[in-house]
This record gives sequence, C-alpha cells and structure tokens, in this order.
Amino acid sequence: MRVGIAGLGTVAQGVLALIKENRARIEAQLGHPLHVTRVASRTPRPDLDLLGASFNTDLGSLIADDVDVVIELIGGVDDAFTLLDQALTTQKHVVTANKALLAERGNELFDKARNHKLALGFEASVAGGIPVIDVIKTGLAGNQISSIVGIVNGTSNYILSAMSENGTPFQDALKRAQELGYAEMDPTFDVEGIDAAQKLSLLTALAFDKQIDGDAVYTEGISSMNVEDLQYARELGFAVKHVAIAQRTESSIDTRVHLALISDRNLLSQVSGVQNAVQVEANGVQSLLLVGPGAGSRPTASSVMSDVIAVGNGSSRLPAAATTQKDHVAMDDIECANYVNIQGLDVPGVMATISDVLAKNQISIEAVIQKMEDITTENGQPRVPVVLLTNRVKESVMQDTLKQISQLPTVSDTIRRIRVLELD
Ligand code: HSE
Repeated sequence: MRVGIAGLGTVAQGVLALIKENRARIEAQLGHPLHVTRVASRTPRPDLDLLGASFNTDLGSLIADDVDVVIELIGGVDDAFTLLDQALTTQKHVVTANKALLAERGNELFDKARNHKLALGFEASVAGGIPVIDVIKTGLAGNQISSIVGIVNGTSNYILSAMSENGTPFQDALKRAQELGYAEMDPTFDVEGIDAAQKLSLLTALAFDKQIDGDAVYTEGISSMNVEDLQYARELGFAVKHVAIAQRTESSIDTRVHLALISDRNLLSQVSGVQNAVQVEANGVQSLLLVGPGAGSRPTASSVMSDVIAVGNGSSRLPAAATTQKDHVAMDDIECANYVNIQGLDVPGVMATISDVLAKNQISIEAVIQKMEDITTENGQPRVPVVLLTNRVKESVMQDTLKQISQLPTVSDTIRRIRVLELD
C-alpha cells in the first residue's frame, strides 16, 4: 500500500512517527507492506525523517501512479478540496483530518467517493484520538440515536480547565494551547465555537443522517468566560464546559454549541485539559461515554492511521448519504435552568427587586450566593454580585427577564448568564 502525505505539520509528524514506531503491527493488520512514497508540503522540513518518501512543495505531485491513498493534513478548505477532488477523480482513496473542509464541502467529496467506489476516511476530523466516528458509524449501527453531547474542542477545554484549576488568564492559557499544537491556525475557530460547530455538524450527519450546515448550528464561544463565574459555579456544585449538543426532537434536530454548567456528579464535568468526551444516548446501548485526547500530534495521528489501515484491509465504510435539514430548532424554544450573575448596587432591597422580576416571569430561584467580601466598585458605587440558579425556563422567557432585570436602577446592565445542562 503506497501512501502520499499532504502537509508536514503537527499531525503529519505524528503520522510519520507512528508509522516508524508501529510498522510491524500496522503492516500485520494491513496484510501487506506500507510505503510512504511521497510527501508534499509548502514548507520543506529537511530535519524530518520522511521514511524514504520523495518530497515536493507542489501538492499536485501526490496525484501520481505510485500513490494509492492520499492523506490530507494541510487544513484549510480550497487547496485541500482541490487535492482530494483530484485524488478521487484519479481513483485514489483519501483520508483527511480536515473538519472545516468536510463541514463546508463534505457532501461533494462523499458523493464522489460513493460514485467512484472509493474510501474517504475522516476519523481524525472529530475529537482527535477518540474513535468516535467508527463507534457511531459501526459500533452503534443498530441503534436509534437520540442525543449526542460532546466536549469536542480541546483548546477550549484546555483554556477553561486552566482558568478554573489555576486561575490562569484566558490569553495565557490560549497561548500555551497554541504552543502545544492544539489550536487551529486561526484560534478564533476554537474559542468562538466554530471548530466545535463543524465537528457537531459531522457527528449529526452520521448519527441522525441529517446534514446541518456548520453555520446553522447555534454557536457561542468561550471568550466571555471569566474566572469568578467558574469559581461560583464550583461552589454551587458544577463545572463549566463548552459543549456541543445534538438531540432529536419530535420533528427536528436541535444543534447548538455553548458554555454550560454540568453537575459535579456527571462524568463529563471531570473531563479536563485537552481531553474531549462524547456522550451518546441511543435506544440499544442506552448511554455511552467516550473520553480521550481531543487534539495533538500523536492522538490525531492515531485516528489517521486507523483510517489508513481500514482503507488498506478493505473495512473502510462511507456514511449513509445525509439529507439536508432546513427546519432548525429555534433557540427561543429550548428550555433549561440557568446560572445568572447580576451586579447589584449594595443597597437595601436589591435582592427583593430582582426576585420580584423573576417572580413576575414565573421563574423560581433554586440557589443563591451573595457575599459581602465580593463587593467591587463601579463608577464610585459599591456593587455586589448576586449569583442565582433558576429552575428550567424557556429561552425566550429567560432573555426577556434578563432584559427587564438589566433595566432596574439598582442593577448594572452587564448580567452574565450560562445555561445549565441536565444530563441523565
Ligand atoms: N483545534 C482543535 C481542538 C484541534 O482544539 O480541538 C483538533 O480538532
């Protein structure tokens, strides 16, 4: 089996290292020898061992007779699409780690792979080293899946964990994640939830046979998170995680990415650092939780190699063709409990005015924290944080109520709210 690798970045280096270290086991599973015949990358890396491959800065050099499988590890959409499209046209199997490409143009590539009876492996595109694609596509093939809840962006989870556990400022934690090779080329994709939305769109297509455009997933990032709210949440018995949710409703699929409080009693709350996790609810297996490294060189390379081996031994399977869903569940209609941090003036009756607005909107307070030692000063006036947990409330009602509270004369208009995720 002759492979050509596009890219020489973090993941490609992991692939070369795994082939070198695990060659005997890989070839035993393939049933034949594995040759890396070509490597193409815009930036030459003479310091790396290319395992005997010839090197070229032109990606088109991989479309050659001595390549059976093209492994795309360059990222980005346009050049990656051109390369994989050409590879499929010339009857080569393809493997990619590129979720942005698949979220934007996956349908075209999957259709082409189906028509040409070729493999398109994409295990590495979601949740790094966790074999979640294979579990959903193969392991759970006999189930009806009802929901997927994932922590699928390693960079965001790393940042939130560092902020929560060590009080590390947001920017410092992001810089470290970049140094460790977890972050996307443009880290706003990580911290604004775009990467997670793209991954969710792939998981949704697999689990529900519904194609939901990454742009159509309701998406919030983590850049608004601050250390105080992580601490208050902990006092209330919760961790704050950035979650990607897809769940079947009566007529549709609800897909969203946002911060969420998760109870300490749920295992997802303990998934920290660059770890990812995906919890699947399905009518056969009931509940399944997969946890593992969500980014990084060798974990992602591990998923790439599982695809390469599946292509080589003929076990690679394409997902069923997905239909496109246009009727997305409106955020206004979802219902959840909420964490709310309101900066009130330190005057008598402030709590009463806030609870009055909540009561008028039929919202009940489940827990409250108000500490005199947390008083700050804003425009010369003392402010005290009033931290609340509400009961389950419809999103539209919550938004409306927060607007009413922010208009109270005794309250600052910067109210922070995080949804609570209730899991079985
Ligand atoms: N930037 C991604 C993450 C890499 O942090 O999860 C893996 O897809």
